[in-house]
This record gives sequence, structure tokens and C-alpha cells, in this order.
Amino acid sequence: MLSVREISITYGENPVPAVADFSLEMKQGEIVSIVGESGSGKTSLVRAILGCLPGGGHVSQGEILFEGRALSGLGPEEWRNLRGTEISMIFQDSGAMLNPVRRIGSQYVEYIRTHERVSRKEAWEKGKEMLEQMRLPAGEHIMRSYPFQLSGGQRQRVGIAMAMTFQPKLLLADEPTSALDVTTQAQIVRQMLKLRDEYHTGIIVVTHNLGVAAYMADRIVVMKEGRIVDAGTRDQILNHPSSHYTKNLLDSVPAMGGYRFV
Ligand SMILES: Nc1ncnc2c1ncn2[C@@H]1O[C@H](COP(=O)(O)OP(=O)(O)OP(=O)(O)O)[C@@H](O)[C@H]1O
Ligand SMILES: [Mg+2]
Repeated sequence: MLSVREISITYGENPVPAVADFSLEMKQGEIVSIVGESGSGKTSLVRAILGCLPGGGHVSQGEILFEGRALSGLGPEEWRNLRGTEISMIFQDSGAMLNPVRRIGSQYVEYIRTHERVSRKEAWEKGKEMLEQMRLPAGEHIMRSYPFQLSGGQRQRVGIAMAMTFQPKLLLADEPTSALDVTTQAQIVRQMLKLRDEYHTGIIVVTHNLGVAAYMADRIVVMKEGRIVDAGTRDQILNHPSSHYTKNLLDSVPAMGGYRFV
């Protein structure tokens, strides 16, 4: 489905790439977690896949193929068709992406209608149904609310619902649970697992939280200073990490009663 081939990402005139020689092969329905310290290039990587690097950032080397097509060759129209339908993204605080002065419903309807020719009423129903699938009860009520009237966890679920509306093949999630309390984190993580089970969505989840990676991921990629320092199945990384960096990362996870939960 996704094939990232030895890409480097460079910002502006900066000679040091933010990401260097990064490769990743992903199949439909797989969950890959990318972990690594702040500034290691995780966000740059997922933004490169979605073709939305900020501030003069660009893929300076290598290529990214989605379903066999090189993303670098896509025109604006093709990107518009791909984003939100085939590939979508959720951010650390999806609530911040919502317009604060417009109700959820009107934003959701507009979003659906940019991708699909349906009536307002149909779009409304579809949005409501998606919210309810994300375990947001009373979808109608949420649709009529302003973003500030919802909790952080509810807003995040609205973000996930929107990202999942068109059952994308690939979901990019950048720190999707970091802004949330532990209970809500767990709910969101379970929600994403359900998406994989129900829709066979492939998920790349960027997280600082090794616990989240350990719980969700089939495979884990560890990054440091723009490079991959370790990659393998969850068990390989958690039980037999090859690099010192990963070992240190694992050792820094707090233990409870002498038992580490990753
Ligand atoms: N908008 C930008 N303009 C210029 N350089 C940038 C920009 N965004 C990122 N970079 C460069 O890319 C590097 C990696 O940043 P990135 O945001 O990808 O890291 P990250 O792993 O997501 O960090 P964090 O865990 O803090 O979110 C940064 O150290 C910085 O040098
Ligand atoms: Mg980041």
C-alpha cells in the first residue's frame, strides 16, 4: 500500500536534512508506530507522506509510493482527491483544527461535501452517524455544538470521525492521544484499533508514549536525529532491541511494582 523509499526531507536552505534515508513498507491493515525524541523528524515524515510539509520543507531525495503511484508526481487536483479520502490525518489536538466560531455540524457537512456530491441533509446524517460510531453519544447534539463546548477527548474523537468518514486506506496519526488524560487516551487507542479491524485501515501512529506503541503497533520504528535507529516487530523492539538508544528508551519507562508495562 505505502512504500517510502530512502527519503530525505530538507527545510529551506538548511543543509542538514530533518529526515535522512528513511524507508518503510506498509501493508493494508498494518499498524506501524514511530517513536523517538522531540525533533527526531516524526512529524516531518508523516507530513511528507500527506504532501503538506510546512515552511519550505520538501522531500529532497527518494520517493514515496502510495498504491504503486509516486506521490511526488501528483498535481493539486489529484492531491485533493487523495487527501481525506484515501489518506487522512489526525493531529495532536484535532480540536485546534476546527473553526471555533462555527458549529461542528456545519464544518462536518462542508467537509463531506468537498469530497462527495451529496445534499446537506445526507451529509449531516453521515456526519452524525460517524460521530456515533466513534462512541460519541448523541451525535445530533455534538453536531449542534461549538468546539469549545466539547471536552478535549470529545473534540479528538470528532477529529478521528472526520478523518475516518471516507474509510481511508491510510490514517496518519501524529500524537493523537498526547493531549488527553489516561482514560481518554485508552479509549482513543481502542477506537483506532477498531478502525483497523473494521475497515482494514493501515495506521501510522507517531507517539512519545511507548506504552501506546506497545499496545497498538504491529511494528515499531525508532528514530533519532532524523534517522532510523531501530525497526522491527513489536516483540523484537520491546524484547530484543538492537540499539542502545532503544534500550535506554525502554529503561526510561517507569515500572510499577517491579513490572514494566511495555
Ligand atoms: N517548519 C519548519 N521549518 C524549518 N525546519 C523545521 C520545521 N519543522 C521542522 N523542522 C526541522 O525538522 C526537525 C524535525 O522536526 P519534527 O517536527 O519533524 O520533529 P518531531 O520528531 O515531530 O518532534 P516532536 O516530538 O517535538 O513533535 C526539527 O529539528 C527542525 O530542524
Ligand atoms: Mg512532532
